[in-house]
Amino acid sequence: MSDFDTLVNEIKVCHQCALSSKRTNAVPGEGALTADIMFIGEAPGFREDQLARPFVGPAGKFLDELLSGIGLRRDDVYITNMVKCRPPNNRDPLPEEMASCKTYLERQIKMIGPSVIVLLGRHSFARFFPGESIGKARGRPRLLNGLKLFPMYHPAAALHNPALRPVISQDFKRLKDLIADPGPNPATFVEPEQLSLL
Ligand code: URA
Repeated sequence: MSDFDTLVNEIKVCHQCALSSKRTNAVPGEGALTADIMFIGEAPGFREDQLARPFVGPAGKFLDELLSGIGLRRDDVYITNMVKCRPPNNRDPLPEEMASCKTYLERQIKMIGPSVIVLLGRHSFARFFPGESIGKARGRPRLLNGLKLFPMYHPAAALHNPALRPVISQDFKRLKDLIADPGPNPATFVEPEQLSLL
């Protein structure tokens, strides 16, 4: 069994926080293990919990459209979440739930080694840049600990506020440009101990 399969199996049977007692399925993530681009959302919702797959509900449908708009398929990227189990009623994940899941995400980043990590929404963004505003940071790449991070609004935000649709689409176009010309790949130079992101 590969190291990645071992990690996925650990996530599937994880009981490190209370979310595990309410889940139907843990949702480790999916996509190419050699992906250059990794998307990090917040947490699984109802459909994700049912199907054990990330972003397969309404927000996922919009994410699929955004990906195909820049010529990508889900298989080309890796998609995961900060928290791998669904919070009840889709509430925000609690700090202790994010802390319990922290090492899973770090191991995924280290094993996949993407050139660009897209932070979808304020929770994912705050994990790397606490106290900053996603509204100000969105759409521009940032470097942290040798990782190239690209913050944007969460696709679900556009479902509640349709005015955000063109904003997110525009940020995807910028992402396309970044992928086409990513510059030096900092992830290839990162030392394992630097991957402790908090
Ligand atoms: N929202 C997320 O943040 N992640 C999912 O997997 C689905 C919806």
